[in-house]
Amino acid sequence: MDNKTITVTSPLLPNLDEFHSMLKEIWDSKWITNNGSFHRQLEKALAEYLKVPYISLFTNGTLPLITALQALRISGEVITTPYSFVATTHALWWNGIKPVFVDIERETGNIDPAKIEAAITPKTTAIMPVHVYGKPCKVKEIQDIADKYGLKVIYDAAHAFGVEVNGESILNAGDMSTLSFHATKVYNTIEGGAMVMHDEKTKKRIDYLKNFGFAGETEVVAPGINSKMDEMRSAYGLLNLKQVDAAIEARHQVAIRYREALKDVEGVDFWDDMPGVKHNYSYFPIFINAEKYGETRDSLYFRMKSDGVLGRRYFYPLISTFSTYRGLPSAAPENLPVATKIANEVICLPMHHALSDEDINKVLNCIIKK
Ligand SMILES: Cc1ncc(COP(=O)(O)O)c(C=O)c1O
Repeated sequence: MDNKTITVTSPLLPNLDEFHSMLKEIWDSKWITNNGSFHRQLEKALAEYLKVPYISLFTNGTLPLITALQALRISGEVITTPYSFVATTHALWWNGIKPVFVDIERETGNIDPAKIEAAITPKTTAIMPVHVYGKPCKVKEIQDIADKYGLKVIYDAAHAFGVEVNGESILNAGDMSTLSFHATKVYNTIEGGAMVMHDEKTKKRIDYLKNFGFAGETEVVAPGINSKMDEMRSAYGLLNLKQVDAAIEARHQVAIRYREALKDVEGVDFWDDMPGVKHNYSYFPIFINAEKYGETRDSLYFRMKSDGVLGRRYFYPLISTFSTYRGLPSAAPENLPVATKIANEVICLPMHHALSDEDINKVLNCIIKK
């Protein structure tokens, strides 16, 4: 890939000198993992920044999903969305749980609460929605259904770092929420993730579970896993937290430019900001109506690619079409018409803090001057 290629994302990197001094501290202390000082500092700083009561750091965004399902002893069937990254459904599979796919809403890309009840069976124990692209799910409607049927709700909030609705963190919805701090995300710790929970007792249990279940030197309280974030990545995370607001604002400006330039382009659709929502602008999906646009989504995607503009067809193909899942009754495309349509129309445009005016123009030129 040459330097002129515009990638869909670019990692937010901390200042190297500052990182170096923190590494020096780690080297001096020789404490490199297992709940060290930077790990504890980052948990405290993130809980404050994200406005959540308790948070536990993980080594990526997949293991907190798997661990949340374990901690809540979820089994049987779980209602989820096919329009996400595969890790959402894989986390269910790794726990021996049967995923039940429910269609999504056209206006947000999130699971459609109006379609959840019809998918509930006596085996259903939980709902696992995703705030896709960081757009908040209809959490009140989902919670009402969960309460009516005695179901748990675990949000895959991998995309929803810092997202708020009317001043309240979206991460406080449901029983637990999980985050990904992967390099491609708005806020990254290279690889990394977290789980958000409501009470200290749960936080303690999760802290045990991510450390093999150890509750002390000689006591193992549950069959835990190893998913601890180390000191290097915790230090890196502390530095990135200082600049994440500026990065989100830079993304916001890119979204403004894209929306302004694309608003009158026939056959190209996109979402506006939602009222009362503090967005994180983690992705900028556009949806191509081939008939109106005069070109298919895939043709535009490959044309962009040959011009050095790397969009991504997130989330295509749908999870429900992958070989592991496609035999499930709920995976039938007739059950998922909205998700199937959106997956066939979407391209996520390059979106990150470091896009220049020239980059943005180049992206737009591909789409507008076809
Ligand atoms: C919706 C969603 N869930 C889970 C994950 C898994 O996170 P990670 O890659 O940090 O394991 C990702 C991302 O990569 C994601 O996009």
